[in-house]
Amino acid sequence: MKNTANLVLLLIVTILLIGQTESRIFSRSKPQKYKLNDTIPVYANNIKSGLSQYGYYGKAPFPKPNSIESKESFQFRLSGNRKSSSLYQLNVTLSNQCKPLQSQYTSYSIDEVKTFKQLIEDDYRVNLYIDDLPLAENFTTHLYLGYPIGYKYHSGNFYYALNNHLDITILYSSVEQYKVESSSDELRGDQEYYIVGVSVSPSSCNHTLKTLCVSCEETLLVDENLPLTVQWSYNVTSMLVNSPDWTERWNDYYVQTDLQGVSVGYNAVLIVFISATMAIILFKIFRKTTFGLLGEEETGWKSIYGDVFRSPNNFMTFSVIVGFGIQIVAGTFILMVFSVAGFLSIANQGGMALATILIFAFSSLFNGYSSMRTYIMMGGTRKRYNTYITSTLLPLIFLILMGIGNIPVWSHKYTYAPTTGAVFFVLAMWLFVSLPFSAMSSYFVYTWPPSEYPCKTHTIPRLIPKPKWYQNPYISMAIGFTIPFIMIYAELYFFLSSLVLGEHYSYSFSFCISFIFFIITIIEINFITEYYQLSIENYNWWWRSLLGPAITGLYVFIYFIIFGISNISVDGVWFYYFFYSLIFSLLVSFFCSSIGFLGNLYLTKRIYSTLHFE
Ligand SMILES: *[C@@H]1O[C@H](CO)[C@@H](O)[C@H](O)[C@H]1NC(C)=O
Ligand SMILES: *[C@@H]1O[C@H](CO)[C@@H](O)[C@H](O)[C@H]1NC(C)=O
Ligand SMILES: *[C@@H]1O[C@H](CO)[C@@H](O)[C@H](O)[C@H]1NC(C)=O
Ligand SMILES: *[C@@H]1O[C@H](CO)[C@@H](O)[C@H](O)[C@H]1NC(C)=O
Ligand SMILES: *[C@@H]1O[C@H](CO)[C@@H](O)[C@H](O)[C@H]1NC(C)=O
Repeated sequence: MKNTANLVLLLIVTILLIGQTESRIFSRSKPQKYKLNDTIPVYANNIKSGLSQYGYYGKAPFPKPNSIESKESFQFRLSGNRKSSSLYQLNVTLSNQCKPLQSQYTSYSIDEVKTFKQLIEDDYRVNLYIDDLPLAENFTTHLYLGYPIGYKYHSGNFYYALNNHLDITILYSSVEQYKVESSSDELRGDQEYYIVGVSVSPSSCNHTLKTLCVSCEETLLVDENLPLTVQWSYNVTSMLVNSPDWTERWNDYYVQTDLQGVSVGYNAVLIVFISATMAIILFKIFRKTTFGLLGEEETGWKSIYGDVFRSPNNFMTFSVIVGFGIQIVAGTFILMVFSVAGFLSIANQGGMALATILIFAFSSLFNGYSSMRTYIMMGGTRKRYNTYITSTLLPLIFLILMGIGNIPVWSHKYTYAPTTGAVFFVLAMWLFVSLPFSAMSSYFVYTWPPSEYPCKTHTIPRLIPKPKWYQNPYISMAIGFTIPFIMIYAELYFFLSSLVLGEHYSYSFSFCISFIFFIITIIEINFITEYYQLSIENYNWWWRSLLGPAITGLYVFIYFIIFGISNISVDGVWFYYFFYSLIFSLLVSFFCSSIGFLGNLYLTKRIYSTLHFE
């Protein structure tokens, strides 16, 4: 008990420490230094509206360089981002650079004009990279990724204006940290600089080469019945700022919110309440220091000691589910150790996708082990069969679900559509890492003796008293497991917002706290509902302790769908969103089930080990 407590404490401390670290340590470690006249790389990424996201040069007819080079790495590509060369040419200069993107008009046919109008209608945003920083609009509270391709306004009729001019601001900070006296200080030739911020303010302007850098007279309207000529242009302003730390440049991208503090506060209250309930129950059980012998007339949980450790029906499936669940738990935990904020960190797009695939593949070590241990504990004899099923069935089901979910993504050519390389990579990870690792760990514990139960099981099962309607276990489960959902609700919102709305929250710390609370709550709620059933002598707890926590996943799924209905407008991504919500919720279910089960197994064993027999 002491060791376990220490271990739990250690885990909690680790998680909290992780919460303090930030995504930036996972971003490119070496900042680029610039001198006067150095060129600043500008890359085209994509155009994006929620989950529907196309390459910069795919859908919208933006002006192209003669040859488009791709600079992104494999993992960057995995995350659905691109780095293609662009026509924007920036260099480090003192003066403003007001330039045309091309030295002439770009003419658009009616079809292309219609495309632009549709993209404006669907709120697409354009994403570029400058010195590896995503270009974003400055909303004073935070930077909002990308800029709108255009905007729609109402004045008698609806008008669509195309944003063809960009005002780009680049913030420099001196490498030598010399004090900037005032904002009028200019870049000097003998200094080196870091870029510590970029922002953009787009505008729509019907200008010509001659009037390019003069104030704008009229907006550039898109009329779907007329061809259009566009002069694309941009104006770059350099500013020198004092920034203590190059890595701080990522912070501005995150929305500052009190919601995290509030949610952590509520969760703390909830957990105190649940833990108190739990403590009362445990106190009642362990109160007596010397336990009397069992009498014949015992009722409640004590009377079913001879049945409570009877192996459940279909325990092959049971152990396979537990095994896979533990794999998810282990994978999630290792992933957290690598980076919490990095899950969806802007600083680290791509790295996380790769890390996730690798970590979950390697965590299959825990799958084979847990599944086999559970199976042996329940007295299973078809061990080889267990190994096969464990390493193939559930992973395969998830791979198939992922494949189906990606069908519309492939057909729409979204940038996050897995490439052939990515598909082969994932399949290879499954075949050559996940599968053998699972089988190996399964084989490793093949001959281990089963773990002991504190009570012997009677040969003849006892009759379970007929429960009254309110004693139905599913009712208490459905109610009880809303609480873990409520605890992670805020985190789910942050998660979906970064994914779908492009609003990023820096949620590492509250995420870690909620994660700990979440796990504790699942164990406690699961035990409380279980204890209630045991005390009305319903001893079929095995499957119930998987089912109850799994309900949390169901609530997550419902929430995702509601979020989707109110936030996803573009067709075509629904199918994808639905499938990935399903996959995510199923993973949550497996996660919760295995944690809840392990908690119940441990506590049930502890409780029944207080009984003494002649
Ligand atoms: C940098 O940009 C300025 C303004 O556009 C231009 O005059 C200058 O020649 C450029 N310098 C280099 C080295 O390209
Ligand atoms: C930058 O370029 C300008 C003209 O393009 C030149 O006058 C200036 O000396 C250059 N500065 C440095 C530090 O190379
Ligand atoms: C955004 O605006 C704020 C306030 O106007 C300013 O302090 C900050 O430097 C700006 N950030 C960027 C990257 O332009
Ligand atoms: C470029 O943008 C800056 C900052 O908004 C502005 O002061 C300057 O006048 C602009 N230059 C031109 C030529 O439009
Ligand atoms: C832009 O201005 C020119 C005249 O300067 C006009 O002929 C053209 O129709 C305008 N285009 C749009 C889209 O407003």
